[in-house]
Amino acid sequence: MFDEDVLVKDNFFDLELISQAWKECLDNDHKGQDFIDHHGIWKGQRVSRQQFIKKADTDISDGNNNFPPAIKKITDILLNEFADDISVREITFQQLYLPWDIHCDLTREDMNEKSIYKSKNNSEYVPFYNVLIPLHDVDSRTIIFDQKSTEYNDFWKFKKYNPKAINPVDESLWEEYLDMCWSEDREWLSIKKIMPPQQAGQLIAFRRHFFHSSDNFHKRNIANKHFLQFLLDKNA
Ligand SMILES: [Fe+2]
Repeated sequence: MFDEDVLVKDNFFDLELISQAWKECLDNDHKGQDFIDHHGIWKGQRVSRQQFIKKADTDISDGNNNFPPAIKKITDILLNEFADDISVREITFQQLYLPWDIHCDLTREDMNEKSIYKSKNNSEYVPFYNVLIPLHDVDSRTIIFDQKSTEYNDFWKFKKYNPKAINPVDESLWEEYLDMCWSEDREWLSIKKIMPPQQAGQLIAFRRHFFHSSDNFHKRNIANKHFLQFLLDKNA
């Protein structure tokens, strides 16, 4: 079932489980780290607070068994749903205070595995999914673009090495959702999918080499949005 680039499943998780997971995350808020933008559209400002529940290079959790119970259950549901040979590279609890600018979610390991995969399988390595699990209902959505990269996460690099889009994002749509971004970026981007507003119980997944961003949720007077992010790998 998970062969699409982008997918959304409403009412996928039990609401009680989601609210328990949210509580576990908030109880561990002291483990979170503020992410300050140093170069981009929010230079000098706090974009998010991120709590690493599992990290690829340092396995904080010491294996999946030490996750808080609701997170463990969500992880098991995901692993089961995505079928064989799937592993969880990273889990973070995200409290987003400012909308993410355009980026993709390749990891350092993706970059390393790419060449190994290619020589082993004689085909292109395609990063697996970024899974977003909203923890509350918020009138804010993720925007997925057609443009992608398996080389870098920075959109300024994409602009440097690629021509402008043939069907760039409509100006009124850009104004409605993406006006926090650099305005010239619009010319290099076309819309793949505008996700529905985030809702507790939803499962959102997309291949993580697609450029994407948050919408400008401050325009709808939303102070922040909370969700879990799982980076999944398919073992080669
Ligand atoms: Fe992302």
